[in-house]
Amino acid sequence: MSTRTPWWIRVPVLFFLIFGLMEYFIDSGEKPAIIEYPITQFFMFMVLMLLIAIELIVKSVENIMFQTLTEEGKERYLASKSKKVEWKWAKNLYQRLTKSRSLEREEEIILDHNYDGIRELDNVLPPWWVYLFYATIIFSVVYLVRFHIVGDYDQALEYEQEVAAAQMAIEEYKKTAKNLVDVNTVEFLTDASDLAAGEKIFVQNCVVCHMADGGGGIGPNLADEYWILGGGIKNVFNTISEGGRDGKGMVAWKQTLKPLEMAQVASYVLTLGENTPANPKAPEGEIWVDPDAPQSEETPATEQVSDSTDVAMNK
Ligand code: HEC
Repeated sequence: MSTRTPWWIRVPVLFFLIFGLMEYFIDSGEKPAIIEYPITQFFMFMVLMLLIAIELIVKSVENIMFQTLTEEGKERYLASKSKKVEWKWAKNLYQRLTKSRSLEREEEIILDHNYDGIRELDNVLPPWWVYLFYATIIFSVVYLVRFHIVGDYDQALEYEQEVAAAQMAIEEYKKTAKNLVDVNTVEFLTDASDLAAGEKIFVQNCVVCHMADGGGGIGPNLADEYWILGGGIKNVFNTISEGGRDGKGMVAWKQTLKPLEMAQVASYVLTLGENTPANPKAPEGEIWVDPDAPQSEETPATEQVSDSTDVAMNK
């Protein structure tokens, strides 16, 4: 490193370079290494001390050398020292990239026409511009071959891939965010663990009025096809969350149960239809027809699945 770079640039640059390398190489998960492993704070402190020590040593060596110089040598040394900080290489690079002519040498490239005192310089095209232009040509050739001749991929494929990836991300998210369900996003839970949890909640809170087999008592029969407030996972979830009609005795459970618990017990309620209750209450309400269900045999099988996320996302 040239002595032209002053210490107050050299020390911080080296320090942050080492810091960056450390963060890059130490695998510390989410948090930066400096927080995850406090020992690295000590390490960086030592690095800083070392850098300062090196600067001091270099300074004093320089000083000793200076004392040994002859008078003339000292003068020359001081003269070279007093020059301002120069970024020689940066200046050279700038000159190479622009090929600009200095003001003093402009005469060499001036063109000989003159319009009312306005004259023109015959500057070369700046190399940075020319190289950029070449780069765009190379890019266009690669692009042309890749997408118009070979046909690597097109927008439609790109779109499909992104949608598929997003779909997977949604599925992934739903698994971690079960408690975020509401009446718009709730789905019939088929997992045995969810249904078992639902049964537990049902036994604890609901059997007093609906009976363990869903046959009904104070509350209506939950095991038949008739529903007062609508069947299907969304209506049942809504009834459990918001309660029944005023004065009928079915309270809103959203204060007591978490959204996931309501989804679990709602799913369990829907499985009660498989039971034949010992003492069924007479049907109340109407037979529930799922509006999402296929109207006739001809409907293709794929449309039978009603994806509740679609509903929520289209809103
Ligand atoms: C205090 C008695 C009582 C308890 C406890 C009770 N319910 Fe009800 N439930 C009722 C009554 C009464 C109705 C009818 C409401 C109406 O007619 O509006 C009802 C209606 C329902 C319905 C709608 C039935 C239909 O035909 O539309 C569902 C679903 C339901 N309850 C589920 C539950 C669940 C799940 C629990 C436990 C978390 C529960 N209930 C606890 C009394 C109760």
